[in-house]
Amino acid sequence: MEEKEISQAVISRLPRYFRYLGELKDGGTERISSQELSEIMKVTASQIRQDFNNFGGFGQQGYGYNVEFLYTEIGKILGLHKKHHLVLIGAGNLGQAIANYMNFEKRGFIINGIFDINKDLIGKRVRDIPVRPMEELESFVKEHNVDIGVLAIPKEAAADVAKRLVKCGIHAIWNFAHMDLNVPKDVLVENVHLSDSLMKLSYNINRCGKPEDHK
Ligand code: NAI
Repeated sequence: MEEKEISQAVISRLPRYFRYLGELKDGGTERISSQELSEIMKVTASQIRQDFNNFGGFGQQGYGYNVEFLYTEIGKILGLHKKHHLVLIGAGNLGQAIANYMNFEKRGFIINGIFDINKDLIGKRVRDIPVRPMEELESFVKEHNVDIGVLAIPKEAAADVAKRLVKCGIHAIWNFAHMDLNVPKDVLVENVHLSDSLMKLSYNINRCGKPEDHK
């Protein structure tokens, strides 16, 4: 398939398509029209067609989309056909919750190592992965094929740890610390802030009022 620049807006919708198509596939649906998908996903059929056209279509006139094929192709676009190796920094509440969430692994995101500075945590296991001291970070990353660093540490520590990750060759950071990281241009950072999502919800409540206000 020819590579072309895809807008971030389209990319941000792909995981949702992937999820729905996965459910359809698991439920035995072999093909689906953009209209049917639109009804299930509550987005317009033209949006779906436009999004898929970015990747050369996938659909056939009069047939619709082959669910398994579409699922596989979107998975490839999202890079989910390859395994990703992660190190998780911070084995506190959030770090342990991330490490315990098995679904990441099903998608090919393998947590190889967990690191922390807290001596009480070092040596403990989270889902059978030992928590290692930060002194071992560089050698561990070099030995394992790590491509993603996950930051679940206080924001005060995030800049330094990000710098260490980049220095040992990691080019992708999944950042949960509430801090914008200043990294070289070739390093990808994906910030995840649950509070941003909650604030969006708060905005919508504020703008639209509570459901009972409309009765
Ligand atoms: P926590 O205090 O339970 O865990 C933090 C862990 O980081 C501790 O085990 C601590 O020893 C370790 N740590 C501190 N400095 C370190 C360093 N330099 N190197 C390695 N490990 C270090 O805190 P919690 O609740 O797990 O939160 C972790 C971070 O995630 C915080 O920055 C918090 O604000 C953020 N957070 C972000 C969310 C989001 O949606 N983005 C949601 C919840 C928390």
